[in-house]
Amino acid sequence: MQDIAAKTAFITGGASGIGLGMARVFVREGMNAVLADIRQDHLDEAQALFGADGLADRVLTVRLDVTDRDAYERAADAAERRFGKVHILCNNAGMGLGGPIKQTRHADWDWGIGVMITGVTNGITIMLPRILKHGEGGHIVNTSSKAALVPVSGFAIYGTCKAAMTGLSEAIRAELAGDNIGVSCFCPGPVQSNIRETGRTRPEHLKADSGLLQEEAELERRPNSPLWMDPIECGERVLAGIRRNDLYILTHPEFKAGTAEKFAAILKSFPDEPINEARADSIRYILTNAIFKDMAQAPGRAS
Ligand code: NAI
Repeated sequence: MQDIAAKTAFITGGASGIGLGMARVFVREGMNAVLADIRQDHLDEAQALFGADGLADRVLTVRLDVTDRDAYERAADAAERRFGKVHILCNNAGMGLGGPIKQTRHADWDWGIGVMITGVTNGITIMLPRILKHGEGGHIVNTSSKAALVPVSGFAIYGTCKAAMTGLSEAIRAELAGDNIGVSCFCPGPVQSNIRETGRTRPEHLKADSGLLQEEAELERRPNSPLWMDPIECGERVLAGIRRNDLYILTHPEFKAGTAEKFAAILKSFPDEPINEARADSIRYILTNAIFKDMAQAPGRAS
């Protein structure tokens, strides 16, 4: 999507950290931004930030829990009432939910999958028809993580949900290309954000049966490192990826070697046997996908 001026982005988890970084860059570059977030304090701070910069008229803050479909429809309505059309959906709301698998309970899985997978599919199911309806094209960015490329042991819920973002993005990219809707999977490495406050958004009814409350308390005490990426830089990389319609938007070359090891391990796991040509002919249509060829031929994407 090249022409972004006066277009509108709907960003979940948009009032803090990476989502706010996206919003600040998008607005700086001439777009409108809808910040949809479950935390009212984050929304208030973000509103004040844009107000201080004289940009309040280009921003709408909406309290939203992405797991609440009715509220999501109302937030989408509010976005359209304010800005007319939404063009870009950033499915970004998420948490740093992790801890040993032996301690992980139903409540933990339900919360993680509810926000980081179902919250995203809610966004696509609710916003995509609205983007298709105006016919001007658009873009969907699904925030995954480097954890989808180089897994983090002890982070099963997080890794599961973030891997789902690569699968989802890859599955819908070719399908939406004909409607001029790009799709990107954003896989950042460590970023300076408020993700350490993960425990503060855990719903009351998913606390009693949790096995990970201790991990959440420990995470809350973990300071950001100044060496982690600035959210504004993330926003700039995301916008560049939207403009180029990158399938993957990556941030940290530090994870390239680990990613190469993963794909080498996958390739090495194929049976070392001759291809059954008749079988291959019968399944030719699923043997490759053009979305990868396009990206493999593209120039370097580091900035
Ligand atoms: P953050 O905590 O600063 O921002 C996340 C925002 O999402 C918060 O304002 C929070 O209130 C909101 N949120 C949480 N649950 C929500 C819900 N149910 N509905 C609506 N909003 C909700 O954290 P950060 O780091 O900016 O996280 C953004 C995304 O980036 C997440 O998906 C996270 O998993 C991902 N990520 C973060 C990395 C990091 O190092 N900070 C690295 C890789 C991925």
